[in-house]
Amino acid sequence: AYTAKVGPSILSTDLSQLARECERMMECGADYLHLDVMDGHFVPNITFGHPMVQCLRNAVGPHPFFDMHMMVSRPEQWVTPMAAAGANQYTFHLEASTNPGHLIRLIRESGMKVGLAIKPGTTVEELAPWAGQIDMALVMTVEPGFGGQAFMEDMMPKVSWLRSQFPSLDIEVDGGVGPDSIHRCAEAGANMIVSGSALVSSDDPRSVIALLRDVVLE
Ligand code: DX5
Ligand code: ZN
Repeated sequence: AYTAKVGPSILSTDLSQLARECERMMECGADYLHLDVMDGHFVPNITFGHPMVQCLRNAVGPHPFFDMHMMVSRPEQWVTPMAAAGANQYTFHLEASTNPGHLIRLIRESGMKVGLAIKPGTTVEELAPWAGQIDMALVMTVEPGFGGQAFMEDMMPKVSWLRSQFPSLDIEVDGGVGPDSIHRCAEAGANMIVSGSALVSSDDPRSVIALLRDVVLE
């Protein structure tokens, strides 16, 4: 009832070459691009905002799907600017939202798809009431903030539970996902696979993308 998609996280690439890195990943078979926005407040790191997303959209053209992972304290603030900049999906954190229902409507009205993310310390029961209204649930498998951290296997019961309750929901995993951890993600029922350091630092990203997708499809 769901497809397998691989979205590179470009956080660990040379950020001065972001457009080139995005194009390289698409040429290697990526299904979408996972773009990590950090505000230095919700997480202890800063990346980029909508001006950069607009430049990236101009550079890579209309096709690549931008999944914005919004690790920011006031997610409602950036919905309109991100839509205008060319974002396709807006994934916000439940922990940062005071009124998820309102935010979901705002994102839909802007024309973007809706993703809802939970940090490792947030239970899946807290996400469940919104699952019927979103396009994708993101189960974080590291504490958000930095690429290159170790995969938290103990998050997999969240994925399995969501998959059992919502058979057609897109479920994304993000953090420490690569060839070593993809089997656990696939078994649990994740179908949107974010991979950062394991993928973008590989000397054969095309094979890694194909492998990640194939394990989910098995
Ligand atoms: C972490 C980010 C992730 C991360 C993924 O806060 O949300 O997208 O960059 O990178 P890896 O796969 O290296 O953990
Ligand atoms: Zn992310």
